[in-house]
This record gives sequence, structure tokens and C-alpha cells, in this order.
Amino acid sequence: MLMSEANFLKSTRSLLERGRQMGDQKTIGVLTSGGDAPGMNAAIRAIVRTGIHYGFKMIGIRKGYNGLISGDFVEMTPRSVSDMLQRGGTILQTARSEAFKTEAGIQKAVKMAKSKGIDGIVVIGGDGSFKGARALSHKGISTVGIPGTIDNDIDCTEYTIGFDTALNTIKDAIDKLRDTATSHERCSVVEVMGKDAGYIAVNVGIASGAEAIIVPEREFDFQKDIFEPIMQGKKRGKKHDIVILAEGVGDAVKLARKIEAETGIEARATILGHLQRGGSPTAMDRVIASQMGAKAIEILKAGKSNRVVAMNQNKIVDFDIDEALAMEKSIDNEMLALSKILST
Ligand code: F6P
Repeated sequence: MLMSEANFLKSTRSLLERGRQMGDQKTIGVLTSGGDAPGMNAAIRAIVRTGIHYGFKMIGIRKGYNGLISGDFVEMTPRSVSDMLQRGGTILQTARSEAFKTEAGIQKAVKMAKSKGIDGIVVIGGDGSFKGARALSHKGISTVGIPGTIDNDIDCTEYTIGFDTALNTIKDAIDKLRDTATSHERCSVVEVMGKDAGYIAVNVGIASGAEAIIVPEREFDFQKDIFEPIMQGKKRGKKHDIVILAEGVGDAVKLARKIEAETGIEARATILGHLQRGGSPTAMDRVIASQMGAKAIEILKAGKSNRVVAMNQNKIVDFDIDEALAMEKSIDNEMLALSKILST
């Protein structure tokens, strides 16, 4: 006869309890690495609460891989992750660890993790952070990566935690810039983040009706991609121009000066900078972060390691880290073409 769901949960819990009493409770650490992103806290919350639900002991590792090396650990309970779903940044803090890029740093981190009884670690971050997770896995610590970066530039996944919030923050800023650009009949050049990728630029360009979107993945021609759309728009009676420049291409101030000199239209540059990384996560980021956090724990519970959680065709899946790091994604040409049609 099939066991009811309630009985199944009861017997799983009592097995876990027995395991705990016999001293074989597994310990799982969680850390955030690289640039912070809104929604990382929602992921930490899901990891801690799902982990505890399955009977794991949960440890927060502060300041990314630096904290793993120095043993900056804190035990986490369901209450340590209360009231944080709505907060930006990462309560565990983060770092771009130089020390962890060296063999000596990795060895120290492994020794530290093992001395504190850490069996598995969930790493929330980008590609660089996943390489770190792979190194740990090769040294006997089970690892799972979760994609967290506003850039959405991780090849194995359609979505990275923080992207939607950043897009909304930037869209709000551009709406304000448009008010002042229209009032003065100016061109507003807006430099957005994204490291070497243009996913933020393309999406925010469409969301804010930009006249031109310049991304690192495509060569750009000043005449064809900027001058002509601006001049044609002016002829059609447009009272402002928005040019989105991905940071990976370069200097917004220089571009604004060139636009002003060549078109005769006053131009101003705005570099949005780190304000793009802050703020309360959108509902979408909170939900996806929660799903990805829970998935990471399920992967560890199943005894798997060297995995990365990803979104594929709107489903939460997982890949081997080596396989994930070998994948490539590219800017959507159709999105770029659409932005041109819509800005006429
Ligand atoms: O990866 C996220 C990101 O915000 C990029 O868009 C940007 O290039 C980089 O981090 C900035 O890094 P930092 O905060 O270390 O200056």
C-alpha cells in the first residue's frame, strides 16, 4: 500500500532525527561571491530553511571565499534568515577573493571547511565563483552553484538572480532622465553595467524605448547606429534621444561629446554605476531565488556534487559545472532588431 504524504514526511523526519542523534547529521555551508545582486538574500533564506527542513545543519560563510579561508562562519537557523526576503545586497556579505585563486588559498579553505565538519557548500555567484566551487568539489567537498549576478551573463542559464531588479532600477532611472532630456530637447547617453556583456543594455533599451543600444558583442558604427537614428528621429519630431551604452564598450562622456559635436543636439552622459546593484528584489527575483535555493539543497541531499542550478525554458534544472562552464550564450539579434523598429 502507498504511504500517505503525511506519513512519508513523518517517517523521513524521524529517520533524520535518528541520524542526528547518531551524530551523522550533515553540515552545509552557504556563501555569496563576486558582485552582490538583489535576491541573494532570498536564495540564502531558501537554502537555510530547506536545508533545516531536510535535517542538515546550516552554516553561513561570511565574505565569500575569503571567509571560507579564514573560518568566518556562523550557524544559521530559520530565524537568522527572517525579515530579509525584501532586502537587497547579501547579509553574508561578499568578496572577489584573490587568495582563493591560488592553490595555497584553496588548500587553506578546504582544511578550514573540513575542520569545521562542512560536508557541502552552496555558492551563489557568477562563473568565476563556480570555478571556485569546482575546485572545492575536486578536493572532496560537495558543491552546488547558484547563478547570482545582475549581468545575466552566465552561459548555462537563461536567468541569473538580480537581473530583473536591476532592469527595473535602470528603467526607473531612465524614465527620469527622459523627463529632463525632453524638457531640453537633449540626447541622454546612459552607461549601464554588464561587465563584458550587453544583456542589461539590450533589455533595458527595449524597456525604455532607446533610440540606440550599443553592446560589446557587436561592432558599432557611429554614423549608422547613432547619428542616423538621432537625425531621423529629430526630423520626425522627437524631442529627446536615449542612447544606452553598455559599460563593456566604453566611455559615455566621450560618446555624449561626439554626439553633440556631430549632430548639434545637446547631449549629457549619465553613468548609473552601483545604484544598479542595490534595492529590494522584485517578486520575480524573490521567486526564482527561492526556487534555485531549494533546488541546490535537493541536489546535495541526493548526494550530487559539482553541479550548477540553472533556468532552462523556464524550468529550474541543473548541470555539471564543467559542462556549464563550457556553454556559450549570445545576445539575441532579434531583440536588437526589434529595438530599432520600435524606436522609430
Ligand atoms: O558583475 C556585476 C557587476 O556589477 C558588473 O556589471 C560590473 O562590471 C562589476 O560587477 C563591478 O564590480 P565592482 O563592484 O567590483 O566594481
